[in-house]
Amino acid sequence: MPLRPLEHLLCPLDQYPLHRDGKTWRCSKNHCYDIAKQGYVNLLPVQNKKSLDPGDSQIMIAARRHFLDSGAYDPLASALANTVNELASEHDELAILDAGCGEGYYLNTVCNSLLNTNAELALTATGLDISKWAVRATRSRNSGINGLVASNRQIPLPDNSQDILLCTFGFPVFSEFQRVLKPGGHIVMVDPGAEHLIELRQQIYEEIRRSPPASLAAGINTEWHISSESSLSFSTPELSAELFEQLLIMTPHLYRASKAGRERAAKLDQLALTADVCIRVISHQV
Ligand SMILES: C[S@@+](CC[C@H](N)C(=O)[O-])C[C@H]1O[C@@H](n2cnc3c(N)ncnc32)[C@H](O)[C@@H]1O
Repeated sequence: MPLRPLEHLLCPLDQYPLHRDGKTWRCSKNHCYDIAKQGYVNLLPVQNKKSLDPGDSQIMIAARRHFLDSGAYDPLASALANTVNELASEHDELAILDAGCGEGYYLNTVCNSLLNTNAELALTATGLDISKWAVRATRSRNSGINGLVASNRQIPLPDNSQDILLCTFGFPVFSEFQRVLKPGGHIVMVDPGAEHLIELRQQIYEEIRRSPPASLAAGINTEWHISSESSLSFSTPELSAELFEQLLIMTPHLYRASKAGRERAAKLDQLALTADVCIRVISHQV
């Protein structure tokens, strides 16, 4: 079954419902948002932007696409897809939002896996990112995914409209996540563990911090609880110098590294890395 288009959006200026009118979404106060030729809609008003080109740049998104298409993180995408499949097993209709979707690799893998498991599933998938380059790339991966340029701080979707929300290596805003999820909904978070990319970090930093994933306790209210938590650790294939370059461009490591660290990183080639992540599901108790 093809992915479904979004039917309900909120105007970022007044929170009124937006109605689709041909190639435009419009609210009752006549604020209009055109659908771009790539099929996404930009709902990030200029006054909410902190820069002209917020979020990951075009170069970072291209690097992320190149790196993830190498298959280096496929075990993570599969684990995430399995987690979502379990949460969705009772559903014949499902709305899923990837909040900070990047170039769409994880959301696309999850959608394919959901539909492979249940071809009859009525699936609405939305990729939201503050970077227009990210949303464009997500649409180019899978044109059935609805694309929204918007911030996690103000998600332009109605209350209680989503079943599952993904936040992979992202910037969670739990009050918004909880608002848009239906009763009984789930937030699936992926965060780096203490050993994530340790071999790379050892090369580029003088001092390494082995920090556990951030605690979620402060962000979630009493109606929500962590319903599952698992660690996933695997070795990537040996990465070429080119893939190291893409990995550094797509992460903040390049900007944080010292000059000597960057020089050492530029010489990396044919080295496998440890990927160490934590997958947590935060569920609403009905
Ligand atoms: C580290 S990347 C992760 C991307 C993707 N989830 C993945 O794992 O491949 C973080 C993403 O969050 C986006 N981002 C940053 N601030 C955001 C915000 N306030 N709301 C939504 N997306 C944001 C960036 O543009 C970037 O695409």
